[in-house]
Amino acid sequence: MSDEEPKKKKRRPFWRKRIRRSTTGGEHKPVLLAEVLDALKPQPGQTLVDCTLGFAGHSLELLKCVSPDGLLIATDLDPANIEPARVKLEEAGGLFALHHTNFAGLAGVLATEGVSQVDGLLADLGMSSMQVDDRNRGFSFMRDGPLDMRMDPSRGRTAAQLLNTLPTEELTACFSELGDEPRAETIAVAIVVGRAIKPIERTKELRELIERAAPVQVLRGPGAPPERKQLLGPTTRVFQSLRILVNRELANLTHLLRVLPTILKPGATAAIISFHSGEDRLVKVAFRDGLRSGIYEAVSADAVRPTFEERRENPRSRSAKLRWARRSTSG
Ligand SMILES: C[S@@+](CC[C@H](N)C(=O)[O-])C[C@H]1O[C@@H](n2cnc3c(N)ncnc32)[C@H](O)[C@@H]1O
Repeated sequence: MSDEEPKKKKRRPFWRKRIRRSTTGGEHKPVLLAEVLDALKPQPGQTLVDCTLGFAGHSLELLKCVSPDGLLIATDLDPANIEPARVKLEEAGGLFALHHTNFAGLAGVLATEGVSQVDGLLADLGMSSMQVDDRNRGFSFMRDGPLDMRMDPSRGRTAAQLLNTLPTEELTACFSELGDEPRAETIAVAIVVGRAIKPIERTKELRELIERAAPVQVLRGPGAPPERKQLLGPTTRVFQSLRILVNRELANLTHLLRVLPTILKPGATAAIISFHSGEDRLVKVAFRDGLRSGIYEAVSADAVRPTFEERRENPRSRSAKLRWARRSTSG
């Protein structure tokens, strides 16, 4: 035996690791997965709903937990998500049913499946990495593409149609109420002036218009947000608010929260992950009111946030907040 110490493999310090910003299906990481499983505690034989299938990151793990006899029912507004997710879930085996539909109509989906109530439900709100990374969907200002932003491209008005027709007041309300953008009115006015010269059709055009209308004075010094975040602030907020408007995201969530108590079996838990303060507020208030009125017997005391480790591994998880509520067994 040699006296020589075995050579230790040098690990690259975390701050030098390359952060990947685009996602392929193979490397997709479901947000707050351990925390979701901890909240739902899925068991073999149960019936669960994943309202937001996406690339089946959460669905796959939930399906494994309820298999072999349980059932996973999943919905997604985006038809492009259904077949890739089906392939992924088929590989795992087990019983599942996928529906291309809005989770606001969940009661109808359950009726189709012959299910009246379920043992647990997950909604992981917002857009998927695959949607963001596809320039032709128009969700991201980092890639030039048509300003569409519809999760279901077969219905509704595109972001371009709304931008080129809504009056200044409605655009201002959208950027301010759905995006918390302080210079909402200035940007709305610039859009109305700009579109009179030429309709705004592409993400790049909108980004440039926002940057001209609301230039950013970068703050420096201790406590100042990163320069890049400051520079992109107004653009990020306007794009987010438009996406929420195009897809009627707050209305859909409100509807889901309203029917939730009728869909959950007594003792069943719902877990909702949100990425936007307006969504999180709706969830918090609905769960708190349900606790007070006895519909729920327990709710998460506070929003559950991703660990430092998860935020580092998956930058898109940074703003995620999970809240859960357990249906009362006596009501
Ligand atoms: C954050 S992704 C879900 C990712 C998924 N949990 C995973 O791990 O692969 C959100 C998904 O919800 C879908 N979605 C958003 N609003 C919806 C709605 N009202 N009804 C059904 N699906 C919706 C989007 O199309 C998107 O695919």
